[in-house]
Amino acid sequence: MYDQEIIQKTEDYVKSVQQGESSGHDWWHTHRVRNLAVHICRAEKAELYVVELAALLHDIADWKLHGGDDSIGPKTARVWLEKQNTGEEVISHICEIIKDMSFKGAKVETPMQTLEGKVVQDADRLDALGAIGVSRVFAYVGAKGSEIYNPDIPVKLHSSFDEYKGKSTAINHFYEKLLLLKDRMNTKTAKKIAEKRHKVMEEYLKQFFIEWDGLDF
Ligand code: ADP
Ligand code: NI
Repeated sequence: MYDQEIIQKTEDYVKSVQQGESSGHDWWHTHRVRNLAVHICRAEKAELYVVELAALLHDIADWKLHGGDDSIGPKTARVWLEKQNTGEEVISHICEIIKDMSFKGAKVETPMQTLEGKVVQDADRLDALGAIGVSRVFAYVGAKGSEIYNPDIPVKLHSSFDEYKGKSTAINHFYEKLLLLKDRMNTKTAKKIAEKRHKVMEEYLKQFFIEWDGLDF
């Protein structure tokens, strides 16, 4: 079942598409998510082939970078996998994972149907946390033309995907998404890693507001 050649070809394809992307959805994000996913997969005893292919293809065509169209990711993955003849069962499993993966707002549930989906969703969310997570938020707002922080813009816990798709500031994004992720991890393995990365973000925000308010001089 596990086909090393298809994995390698998929890696090369994804690398060629995502190389140099500047909003934090570049090839190295995918590379880290794949490594996290493989680690969680082994600990949770999920099916490696589906996990690895889904991790590699999960951001092949993100809605945020394609005018808000959230059907383009699974469609692009399907076209690629059909060319590789991976079989319909594997293809529909992977496309379902990619379709359901994204965070869609603080008050929107995003359940995954299979263990493989849970593993890949956890891996993607872990890469939004910690020191890397902090870096990615600022890359994202820079690429999108949003502000670092603006105290006049209140934090919003979004109740629909459409609301969530609107603009925010980097600092608000921590409260609107990133600090909520540790309690939404699917697997025990990811929860443990998330706890550590969560603390890094809390420390970061504490220092950010000390400097913002001028309390250190
Ligand atoms: P998911 O994989 O859950 O869909 P995204 O691709 O939406 O995650 O987000 C990946 C990373 O991009 C986020 O963790 C964050 O760093 C950054 N990002 C996404 N949306 C925003 C936003 N509205 N404001 C700031 N950063 C964002
Ligand atoms: Ni991702």
